[in-house]
Amino acid sequence: MSSIGKKASFMSNGDGHSGNSGGTPKKGPSGRSYKTKAGLTKKPKKMRGRKLSSQRWLTRQLNDPFVSQTHERGLRSRAAIKLEQMDDKHHFLRPHMKIVDLGCAPGGWLQIISKRCRLDAGIGCLVGIDLLETEAVAGSYILQGDIHDPLMLEEIKSHLEGKADIVLSDMAAATTGHRPTDHLRTMGLLEIAIDFADEVLADGGVFLAKAFRGGADKSLLGLLNERFEKVKHLKPAASRVESVETYLLASGYLRSEKAEQARD
Ligand SMILES: C[S@@+](CC[C@H](N)C(=O)[O-])C[C@H]1O[C@@H](n2cnc3c(N)ncnc32)[C@H](O)[C@@H]1O
Repeated sequence: MSSIGKKASFMSNGDGHSGNSGGTPKKGPSGRSYKTKAGLTKKPKKMRGRKLSSQRWLTRQLNDPFVSQTHERGLRSRAAIKLEQMDDKHHFLRPHMKIVDLGCAPGGWLQIISKRCRLDAGIGCLVGIDLLETEAVAGSYILQGDIHDPLMLEEIKSHLEGKADIVLSDMAAATTGHRPTDHLRTMGLLEIAIDFADEVLADGGVFLAKAFRGGADKSLLGLLNERFEKVKHLKPAASRVESVETYLLASGYLRSEKAEQARD
């Protein structure tokens, strides 16, 4: 543990999390399945006194098959399913890789990575960071802190011991309700993630990050195109159609001038 209000934990084997990424299927926290037998839209029972936005959110949660899948499989987040779907199609997670997961709480992506990269064997390495406390999974170091803090970035590098094969970022800024502000703040996080990937990726490495559809991402897309052989936009099925969220998958990292200078 370090002295600047952040925390690190390491777990070398075992599940290391409250959930279960592949074991006995579980029901939701209430003990019931969210699907209706007849395929009808389920309505929450206690709607009175709730705001309309909260009623809509609850109805959507109850009828979302990925929410029920998350509970049944003991995954810590619905986001885990998005990562799984993207990897099923593009196969970027491989056994014993060195991986950085930026914005890792509550740890759904960590669960998928630990399992697919077989990190419980003690080979490979997974370093996660988030503002929030996150329970470790097998083979992971978890840091609690802000990605804007250069000391945190140094700490990630020290745990990596060498170059990373893949840098993932699912970071999203806390929403203010003002869409342009939220957009800019999340794109700011993406920019930091790209710069960090530029410092730590091995040649041929992969970068996968959450982005928002919209104007500000064009310049960032330019940066990725300069530094990687291929860049693709992904929209996994579990990412809601109405959401502006999208993912950028950049593969075949080519050393950038900036990274070369840092090495000299
Ligand atoms: C969508 S969640 C990530 C979900 C995660 N991939 C999972 O599967 O559980 C986005 C995360 O980004 C984190 N985040 C936002 N800004 C951050 C920052 N400046 N530094 C570190 N983490 C940050 C948030 O705390 C939040 O937990």
